[in-house]
Amino acid sequence: MRPYIEIDLNALISNYLLLKAHVDRPLIAVIKANAYGHGALPVCQALEAAGCEMVAVARSSEAVDLLAQPRQASILVLGVSDVDDLPTLITAGVTLGVSTAKEAKQIIDAAAKLGLRAKTHLKLDTGMRRLGALPSDAAALADTLTNHTDLCGVYTHFAAADEPCLDSAEQQYEQFNQLCNALSLSNNPNICRHVANSAATMLKPEWALDAVRPGIALYGSYPSEHVRARCQQQLPLQTTLSVYSPISQQKTLAAGDAVSYGGTWVAEHATVIGHSQVGYGDGYMRHLSGKGQVSIDGRIYPIVGRVCMDQFAVNLGQTTDCKWMELLGKNVNIDDMASQCATIGYEILTHLNSRLPRVYRR
Ligand SMILES: Cc1ncc(COP(=O)(O)O)c(C=O)c1O
Repeated sequence: MRPYIEIDLNALISNYLLLKAHVDRPLIAVIKANAYGHGALPVCQALEAAGCEMVAVARSSEAVDLLAQPRQASILVLGVSDVDDLPTLITAGVTLGVSTAKEAKQIIDAAAKLGLRAKTHLKLDTGMRRLGALPSDAAALADTLTNHTDLCGVYTHFAAADEPCLDSAEQQYEQFNQLCNALSLSNNPNICRHVANSAATMLKPEWALDAVRPGIALYGSYPSEHVRARCQQQLPLQTTLSVYSPISQQKTLAAGDAVSYGGTWVAEHATVIGHSQVGYGDGYMRHLSGKGQVSIDGRIYPIVGRVCMDQFAVNLGQTTDCKWMELLGKNVNIDDMASQCATIGYEILTHLNSRLPRVYRR
């Protein structure tokens, strides 16, 4: 018996189909960072079996890894592609996001050496001030990509589509459309325009354009508390990832016994604690020390004392015959956990590391 992560691929597909029906557009499923900790290949394979034609990753190395595996969906690299990866990616027909003239030149030169034209999507910076061409540089870059690559898409990324006020997202959306019109990239059957992350997909289906680009919602977590409050009823996401641990030692404490490093929790009366076999060394958040919860047989129990690298203690009250505890999943909600840690579901998921084996269920 050892701790593990269970991935429910049916839940993933249900979230995929829910979002797709909501916008009635193709989804470019974001599977960067190992599909938000779920495993890029199994997620990619499950999504393509459900009809998903394109997946997106952040780095070219993630695309190279996927290319070595059996999968069919085409791949979009959202970020800057490493020059060393370009020959592999261009030969395999991977679509490359391009933000600068320098990246464009590297891609065009690499493709020329292969006697090929690279597939590209132009990335526009409409306000995030991260990657993407500024509006002043967009026309020149679009020209270069049109003349020397197969330009087949254009995109931007919202800085604040998950907040109660959507004014800045609206400005970004409008600027994106103005740029697409000016660059003759609108209503062009050869150009896929995509802007919507999970938040925009859920809150603003009318911004879906030619495709949407959600990540976190596929994995059963809402991008923010605000989006959760607004959308949970209409768009109930299913839990895709659960963490289970055996209950290792159960121990009866006397009143006054202090638990774990620093002795931050002291038993007020005789009580039984049980230990998980998971800790921050698995990516379980140390912030949950003294405030997180686990579920045992459907009942919630509090974590007591500090989360250690390999284990933490749970106040069971009395001994249990149960062998397992759920650390995250249907009974221990990811977004509640994220709030307890003053973070977001994205970080909870991507922290969980490879010491916890992934088991896939359908
Ligand atoms: C460029 C880009 N598009 C789409 C996404 C997906 O966003 P989300 O997971 O909020 O749906 C991300 C993730 O951060 C991203 O960086």
